[in-house]
Amino acid sequence: MKISTSILSAKDRIEAVHKLNDTNTDYIHIDVMDGKFVPNYQMPINEILEYEKKSEKKLDIHLMVENPEKYIKQLDNKNIEYITIHYEIKKDLDKLINLIKNKGYKTCISIKPNTSEEEIYPYLNKVDMILIMSVEPGLGGQAFMESTIEKAKNIKKRKPKMTIEMDGGIKDTNIHKIKKYVDIAVVGSYITNQDNYKRAINILKN
Ligand code: DX5
Ligand code: ZN
Repeated sequence: MKISTSILSAKDRIEAVHKLNDTNTDYIHIDVMDGKFVPNYQMPINEILEYEKKSEKKLDIHLMVENPEKYIKQLDNKNIEYITIHYEIKKDLDKLINLIKNKGYKTCISIKPNTSEEEIYPYLNKVDMILIMSVEPGLGGQAFMESTIEKAKNIKKRKPKMTIEMDGGIKDTNIHKIKKYVDIAVVGSYITNQDNYKRAINILKN
């Protein structure tokens, strides 16, 4: 399984990016929050662009925002691989998916814990990845919701080749539960709360 490390809860995010450049992490996960789709506000576009510049890893950008368009338009970096938007924003998702594609990035749609996976079945042939939230989006360090594993299982059953990412509360003690169904695990506080990122990531990968 691949690991996408979220720098959200790191004390010094720039330092975290530098440290991650020297680890086995497959991606650096950037959480963007607008204070509307989720109560928290994180982070101004300039800050994202700064991390983009410093990262030597591929980037996985998670837009927890009601209006992703303005972010997608400003994001411009060869290291970006995935841009994720949320199903629940009630915007023209097809249009947003095309906007991301036209910029040359891979597309991903995310669902919150209370959204059924069946709602996004119409998008399975339109996007490159599905992100299943295993916590309520908005905060790092929350407890993993086991009930969300079933969604990954069902999507894989319906479309075995679909890339599935899971985000929230994943750590050494529960990562084995999702291994069969999840391709990329987003892990934040378990890694960034430790000094030795390399060791933490190796534990998750083994
Ligand atoms: C939550 C974010 C997650 C979070 C993961 O809204 O989308 O990416 O930072 O952090 P942990 O691993 O601490 O739950
Ligand atoms: Zn995230």
